[in-house]
This record gives sequence, C-alpha cells and structure tokens, in this order.
Amino acid sequence: MNKMKLEFYSKLENEAFARTSVVAFLMPLDLPMEDVMEIKTILAEAVVNAMIHGYENVEDGIILLEVSYDEHYIYIHVKDDGCGIDDIQKAMEPMYTSKEYLERSGMGMTIMQTFADEFHIHSEAGKGCDLQIKKKIRHGNQTEQ
Ligand SMILES: Nc1ncnc2c1ncn2[C@@H]1O[C@H](COP(=O)(O)OP(=O)(O)OP(=O)(O)O)[C@@H](O)[C@H]1O
Ligand SMILES: [Mg+2]
Repeated sequence: MNKMKLEFYSKLENEAFARTSVVAFLMPLDLPMEDVMEIKTILAEAVVNAMIHGYENVEDGIILLEVSYDEHYIYIHVKDDGCGIDDIQKAMEPMYTSKEYLERSGMGMTIMQTFADEFHIHSEAGKGCDLQIKKKIRHGNQTEQ
C-alpha cells in the first residue's frame, strides 16, 4: 500500500502539475504506456471539471487529489468544494454539458467512466463534488491481461 495527497488552487496551470505528479508517483508500478495515458486522461478530465465547473471563475478554490495503490488497484480521489451538481444522472450523460458556450463536448464523465474499472461520484448542489475512481493494475508493459 502506498499513498499520496496533493492540495492545489483551481488555476488551470495546475492541471499539468497534478497530472505529472501522479504519473511520477505511479512510476514504481511500471504500468503499460496505455494505462498511464488512461490515468492521465482521467486526471485531466476530473481536475479540469473541478476548475471550470466546480470553481467557475474562482482561482483559489481548493482541489484535493489523493492517489493510492495496493497490489491490485490504483485508487484516485478528486474532491472540490465548488458549486456541486444537482442532477448527477444528467451530468453523466454522454454529450451533456452545461457549458455549450465554451464549446465543451460533454464527454469528460463518459471518458473517465470508460477508462475506470469503478467510478463513483458524490455531489449535491452547493456541496462540491467528490470522485472516487478505481483502476486495476496491469504489470509489465503488456497490453493484454
Ligand atoms: N466538479 C464539478 N462541479 C460541478 N459541476 C460539474 C463538475 N464536474 C462536472 N460537472 C457538470 O457535469 C457536466 C458534464 O461534465 P463532463 O466532464 O462530462 O462534460 P463537460 O466538462 O461539460 O465537457 P468536456 O469534459 O467534454 O469538456 C458539466 O457540464 C457540468 O455541468
Ligand atoms: Mg469535463
């Protein structure tokens, strides 16, 4: 079991910081390249969502990122204390976005779910958003299990 925790402001430039820090933390696992790409994508989608939706126009909102792993799984936890989501089912629909004017495609949640082995979201309007993601570890640079 190993674990890390990061807290950072909701400034867009911190997205790369969060993503690369997690990749560095997971280095000892020697994950297949494909899995590293999927984890980077999950992080980018989750962190950018917290920044542009949760903390819309706020640059000093706190985003909490915790990553841990055991023998079998990587656990990713992304939490913001932003505006929250009042209709999670709708937010999860492919191509649903509340920000069409920003030309978002509404695919972030769908992409995260596709790449995750387990995906849980807890959120309420006004109460922030909490994502729990579990991803199975595949060893040794193989592409198939
Ligand atoms: N952390 C969050 N806080 C508040 N609302 C959120 C959060 N994450 C997602 N949402 C809501 O869920 C909707 C769907 O999110 P999703 O990531 O699928 O699409 P998007 O961010 O709008 O577009 P894309 O990710 O394709 O750029 C968002 O439009 C937003 O309304
Ligand atoms: Mg998104």
